[in-house]
Amino acid sequence: MLGSPLTFTRGPDMKNRFMLAPLTNCQSHADGTLSEDEFRWLTMRAEGGFGLTMTCAAHVQAVGQGFPGQLGVWSDAHLPGLTRLADTIRSQGSVSSVQLHHAGNRSPADLIGTTPVCPSDDPQTGARALSAAEVQGLVEDFVLAAERAEQAGFDGVELHGAHGYILCQFFSPELNQRTDAYGGSMENRFRILDEIIAGIRARCRADFMLGVRLSPERFGMQLAEVKQVAERLMTGGDLDYLDMSLWDCFKLPVEEEHHDKSLLEHFVELPRGNTRLGAAGKIRTPAEAQAVMDAGADWVMLGRAAILHHDFPARCLAGGFEPVATPVAPAHLRGEGLSDGFIEYMNNFKGFVATEGA
Ligand SMILES: Cc1cc2nc3c(=O)[nH]c(=O)nc-3n(C[C@H](O)[C@H](O)[C@H](O)COP(=O)(O)O)c2cc1C
Repeated sequence: MLGSPLTFTRGPDMKNRFMLAPLTNCQSHADGTLSEDEFRWLTMRAEGGFGLTMTCAAHVQAVGQGFPGQLGVWSDAHLPGLTRLADTIRSQGSVSSVQLHHAGNRSPADLIGTTPVCPSDDPQTGARALSAAEVQGLVEDFVLAAERAEQAGFDGVELHGAHGYILCQFFSPELNQRTDAYGGSMENRFRILDEIIAGIRARCRADFMLGVRLSPERFGMQLAEVKQVAERLMTGGDLDYLDMSLWDCFKLPVEEEHHDKSLLEHFVELPRGNTRLGAAGKIRTPAEAQAVMDAGADWVMLGRAAILHHDFPARCLAGGFEPVATPVAPAHLRGEGLSDGFIEYMNNFKGFVATEGA
């Protein structure tokens, strides 16, 4: 089943059920253009058998940069690198997608050189509220970024609505204190997402593949509300897939009243129409990937497992594959196509990189 193709309403089929998770790797040039290191890291994954290869979160406005060395999709200057990347991913038989992102109040002021923005003033980070015109500008820049990805030859884009970045800041009743049409009721808080989706559907080609990533916990997100939105998005017909970022596919929800089933089960049981549903979070072995499929997902998304093995899908489908145990030596990661800067970044993830020589 992990080896069987997956069709989508729009866009090419995936040759198997493995998607590469969007993974920030801090390897782009300072202006957001693609570097050789990032090209190598991603195209090695396409070559290693991923049915879909997704870029890291790529910012749609300069002011929305969240990380040093982040890939940009906010200017036509990014097009040559993106085009080369899309071409090579396709030549390796993998579907390609750019994750569209804006960090909002999580943009470091010293990185963007100005005050970060947020749906409403945020005393904790010092971010300032977007004006009504700026909200329209943000919608437009997400759509322009999708058009740019299309122009570069990508099969589609994923909207990053997870992990407390700007779209999630709009969704969150805690962070979004707006009193206009973009704040207050659930309908209002998700309006920005609906407008971006409508803009992409109106302006990108008919078979452009569109996904959304949501996370159901933290940053003020509540499971019951995220489930309602997930169902509405999946049955609405405008999306090709929904990517649930669970951080752990096998855990119970944080909210005790929902402990009757696992976080993943809460989503796979929802009506999904023709929209494909997948999940990310601690899928580390072939057995764990199979377990997520058996639970009812259409595809699985690998993050750290794909950092450890660029060819996880190919090896998993060949059978008898046992992934390496963590922590791993930097030399292993270098062999898997990570630059020293990316390896350094991975030190933020406890227990992943072993001390050199250990
Ligand atoms: C190094 C690293 C970078 C990440 N960058 C992104 C990102 O750019 N966008 C995003 O939506 N999630 C990002 N995530 C979350 C992953 O996409 C994934 O959902 C998460 O790591 C859980 O999957 P895993 O247990 O297979 O790693 C990142 C995670 C890691 C470890």
